[in-house]
Amino acid sequence: MSGADAQQRLHALRREVAYHAHLYHTLDAPVITDHEYDLLWQELLDLERQYPQWQEADSPSQLAGAAVRADLGQVEHQIPMLSLDNVFSVEDFSAFDQRLRERLGTDQTLTYVCEPKLDGLAISLRYHEGSLVRAATRGDGLIGEDVTASLAALPSVPKRLCGDDLPTEIEIRGEVLMPRAAFIRLNEQAEAQGGRIFANPRNAAAGSVRQLDARIAAERGLQFFAYALAYSSQPLPARQQEHLALCQRWGFQLAAGIAVGQGAEFCEQRHAALLVEREHLPFEIDGMVVKVDSLAQQSLLGFVARAPRWAVAWKFPAIEVATRLLAVDWQVGRTGALTPVAHLQPVNVGGVTVSRASLHNLDEIQRMDLHIGDEVVLYRAGDVIPKIARSLTSASHAADTVITLPTQCPICASPVLRPPGEVVARCSGGLYCPAQRQEALLHFVSRRAMAIDGLGEKWLAMLIAQGRIEHAADIYRLDRDSLLSLDRMGEKLADKLLQAIDASRQTTLPRFLYALGIRTVGESTAHALALHFLDLPALMTADEAALLRVSDVGPVTARWIVTFFAQPHHRDIIAALLAAGVHWPPPQAQESLSGSYVITGTLASMSRDQARAHLLRLGARVSGSVSAKTTAVIVGHEPGSKKDQAERLGVAMLSEEDFLELLQRHGVTL
Ligand code: IVH
Repeated sequence: MSGADAQQRLHALRREVAYHAHLYHTLDAPVITDHEYDLLWQELLDLERQYPQWQEADSPSQLAGAAVRADLGQVEHQIPMLSLDNVFSVEDFSAFDQRLRERLGTDQTLTYVCEPKLDGLAISLRYHEGSLVRAATRGDGLIGEDVTASLAALPSVPKRLCGDDLPTEIEIRGEVLMPRAAFIRLNEQAEAQGGRIFANPRNAAAGSVRQLDARIAAERGLQFFAYALAYSSQPLPARQQEHLALCQRWGFQLAAGIAVGQGAEFCEQRHAALLVEREHLPFEIDGMVVKVDSLAQQSLLGFVARAPRWAVAWKFPAIEVATRLLAVDWQVGRTGALTPVAHLQPVNVGGVTVSRASLHNLDEIQRMDLHIGDEVVLYRAGDVIPKIARSLTSASHAADTVITLPTQCPICASPVLRPPGEVVARCSGGLYCPAQRQEALLHFVSRRAMAIDGLGEKWLAMLIAQGRIEHAADIYRLDRDSLLSLDRMGEKLADKLLQAIDASRQTTLPRFLYALGIRTVGESTAHALALHFLDLPALMTADEAALLRVSDVGPVTARWIVTFFAQPHHRDIIAALLAAGVHWPPPQAQESLSGSYVITGTLASMSRDQARAHLLRLGARVSGSVSAKTTAVIVGHEPGSKKDQAERLGVAMLSEEDFLELLQRHGVTL
């Protein structure tokens, strides 16, 4: 690079770093990854080192952090809050160790304190005579923001220090963090309620502390960990490890995993071990901070512009990295829900190569304005599956990069439905779709459906795996030999199962309809449909308008029913079931129930809503108040004043048993 080029690059880098520092520190809303930021930073430092003649006092390298938010009070730090230089490799780290020993003029190994590099927000806490008087963010290193109220609200920040004989003035430095679980919860809430989504736990912690409403930090589960004793009005102990012990004695929590040892090799081992431990920590760390233990050596080594020479941040491979979104395909879950899966340009995230990431649903894709071909940020929290955190591409997109919901199930080609207002799109091929087979069959045999006792998940899974059952009708083709071929199936059990299968052939139309597993058709809708259409062919050929005439059926259910019966494979399965001998008595023609009923108290066998639905379906009216015209009051447990009213007016009363009998007489099977 020529001198002129370097000067131009320096100028551009300063602007770029300053811009990203502003997004990161002041707005808590970065648009590049930490790693990309680190690279820019490193390039700036390298160039400035190479061309010291072009150093400028207002270069971001001369300032730590960024400007403070104007609406929070300002605090001038009596001792500047510095930053740390980074190293990224064993070689870099040994060079650091080597440099220190040369400066100190010693061949001896140095004693180091290795601490997790907590990925939160740096905080300074001031105590006067043992009481918390002020908390401040780092800000630009010299002036920070007053966040006393937020920090004082955290249980991990002692309002009063423990112990007697406390120095009059103490300043503690540490990090405030949002545990991963709290971060996930916060974003889930924001997603549901349309609030702000944070890019990562650090931004969430920063955003929560720098709020005017102090309760927010505590509500969101922030925690403070001390890592340095910046000032004491009494002489301080001579070692960093003693400083940490003192912080702990005064009532602060220290991060787990702090270790003291000799020389670069010890630090290398600790770094490797911490990289593994990282996965299991409840919060994020982005590296290991190595500090010279001896304060005497620290003061000999001193500082450069914004960082001490006696400490370094040995960064971990980023868990947030940028890559390209190549394609999105859709996975079909056991219940038919379609989930988008992102295919990515393979990339190393925190030591693991990732080429796929889960996306929640189409809403999330739209919220992030994701398009095929976008540069995206991947975020891997602990050992969970990586997630796409945000898109870095904001340019306008070509039409063919839009991510759309497939109209047909990628597994079975049945139509995909996403009812208005619902987030989840589903395959409508329930009984037929291989992805849903096991779940659909489990429902089919369940107690309230075809009630095939004993054919539980274990046997079904085996029969499906062996290819003996594909569709519901195959259950009726099972014979003794095929059952006995199953591991651990005895003769007695096989016979019992065959009996149960046989017995299930005799069923009722509502049970059969319910067993088909049509989405949103529960037992009560199945009853209503059976009573309304009386036979299966009438229901199978009904259009949405006809279905909407059934009391229990709304537009969404009508749509699912029509879509279900429109599919030839569903009609084939139904035909095969009937051919296998599944049958039912014709639903009793309704002796309709007229009159007006009132329900009071709780019923043991059903909810009041269900009772109401049964009555309405039979043609009765249901009222909320008793009058002389009321036909009968159904009296449940702990009835209200309606019972007294009925007594007064001489209206008939039905106990729960009477009511059940009444329903039964009118063909309602529960
Ligand atoms: S000591 C003068 N110890 O890392 C040294 N910092 O990149 C000041 N950090 O601003 C920092 N864990 O927010 C220290 N165990 C630790 C740390 C730690 C996280 C943060 C801190 C600092 C930044 C420097």
